[in-house]
Amino acid sequence: MDRSIIYKKIPDALLLWYHRCKRDLPWREDTEPYHIWLSEIMLQQTRVEAVKGYYARFLKVLPTIESLANADDELLHKLWEGLGYYSRVRNLKKAAQMVMQKYDGVFPAQYTQVRELPGIGEYTAGAICSIAFSQPIPAVDGNVLRVISRLTDDDTPIDLPAYKKTVKEALQRVYPKEAGEFTQALMELGATVCGPNREPDCPGCPCKGFCLGYANGREKCLPVKKPKKTRRIEARTVFILRCGDCYALEKRPNNGLLADLWQFPNVQGKLELEDALSFVSNAGLRPTQVHRQLERKHIFTHIVWQMRGIYLTVKNKNQSYVWMTSQQINTQAALPTAFRQFWEEAENV
Ligand code: ADE
Repeated sequence: MDRSIIYKKIPDALLLWYHRCKRDLPWREDTEPYHIWLSEIMLQQTRVEAVKGYYARFLKVLPTIESLANADDELLHKLWEGLGYYSRVRNLKKAAQMVMQKYDGVFPAQYTQVRELPGIGEYTAGAICSIAFSQPIPAVDGNVLRVISRLTDDDTPIDLPAYKKTVKEALQRVYPKEAGEFTQALMELGATVCGPNREPDCPGCPCKGFCLGYANGREKCLPVKKPKKTRRIEARTVFILRCGDCYALEKRPNNGLLADLWQFPNVQGKLELEDALSFVSNAGLRPTQVHRQLERKHIFTHIVWQMRGIYLTVKNKNQSYVWMTSQQINTQAALPTAFRQFWEEAENV
């Protein structure tokens, strides 16, 4: 089926709508490549509302690519704390160092050069080249695929790599002069009117006049996806150990999940209280009071942690943990959300 007629109608309709309806977002205030790059990395896997504050704070502390290239790892982790997927910030720094060394501190404008920077995939390279440099290169992610599958009434699973390629090529053929605006307009439609995990707001859509999915009454059946792989479930017991005004923390290993970040001591499995107290004694600590138990979960890409937090006061400190005050935890240690949710409750025990 020839869908090119639909594709040709998208740019005009979307651009008109975008100029009228776009959300005011901090990274839409300018097209400085560093700003666009940073926002796109933050927006990978993270919601717009959550990113806004992080984006402003990051740029206040590290206003230039040079300052990012020279930034201390602990500071970077702290600026990223709570955003998740911490390899993103490590790659940002590596890429900034590459930009300093290879391109004299000037962010490259060529797609192939952008694509070679650590942490920048096809989507992000397309977003940067179109938004910062006005090049006709599409940025196609799940949101754009959902929009296109509905507009063209296409029930090919959108997570098939071949589908992405087809959509990218078809969009590239109709890219308008206002490349950056069009990239963002597509994202905007996919984030608002034609959003994920809910019914599309077809009456409010600028494309309803030519949307095939809508015309055929199939807008709610699209997109089609391949069956999902399930996440592995892991049980853990997390210890929130207090001695005086200090808490026990330790650094995670420098590879694997949440590498190099801080954590409360924890073990595999959900321990009953008796076994939990033995664990603490074996660590050379004398527990004096059990305050509370709390169950929480944290979802990673491939794993779900089902965690039991146990809040204890201990009489002594040991050498194997780092004992930090509340203030140190809040200002210096990057404590990922999986553990931070127990920290947020620590004041209530
Ligand atoms: N998601 C990914 N990139 C985005 C952008 N530039 N604006 C809004 N949402 C986005």
